[in-house]
Amino acid sequence: MKSSPQRNPAIPKILFVLVLVAIALAIAYAALHQNTWSWPVPDEAKQLKNPLQPSGAALESARLVYQDKCAHCHGDTGKGDGRDALRYDPKPADFTDANLMRGVTDGELFYKISEGKKPMPVFKTRLTEDQRWELVLLIRSFATPQSGEHPAESNKPNRP
Ligand code: HEC
Repeated sequence: MKSSPQRNPAIPKILFVLVLVAIALAIAYAALHQNTWSWPVPDEAKQLKNPLQPSGAALESARLVYQDKCAHCHGDTGKGDGRDALRYDPKPADFTDANLMRGVTDGELFYKISEGKKPMPVFKTRLTEDQRWELVLLIRSFATPQSGEHPAESNKPNRP
């Protein structure tokens, strides 16, 4: 045997373990960031502005579409708790989560509604642009507390 028996056999093992740890950390990181990673939106789409102003009529017409096409997954009040929601992983987004919604632009919501992503259907072929922008207004309204509530209080997690 030519290989020298004096070499410390522990070193390659330590390197091997370090590589495994690095891989495990990368997987954990990817899992935590799954939502933002798995649905990339082009920058031009993110910057699009909603051409519609919020109005009672726009919200009303969006509500009809929403009840018909979105509520069974996203829930009547946008909490992501529709009757079909449990079947899906990742779950339908919770539009009442103000922190989550702050991180998403109107253009991004419009893009996601238009393009869909399994299991969510593509809506650009089923709804007009105006209908999709109205839905963006409605989705925004889910995260806004109704008048009378205190936004700061209602956003706090309920700790005993
Ligand atoms: C079959 C169930 C289903 C239906 C119907 C559905 N969605 Fe979704 N939706 C999902 C799921 C699941 C996700 C999460 C996908 C992900 O994060 O990978 C999602 C995500 C979204 C998002 C992205 C939120 C974010 O995190 O940025 C928007 C916006 C959205 N849905 C709007 C709608 C609207 C509006 C409708 C109706 C026109 C609708 N969806 C219909 C299942 C559905």
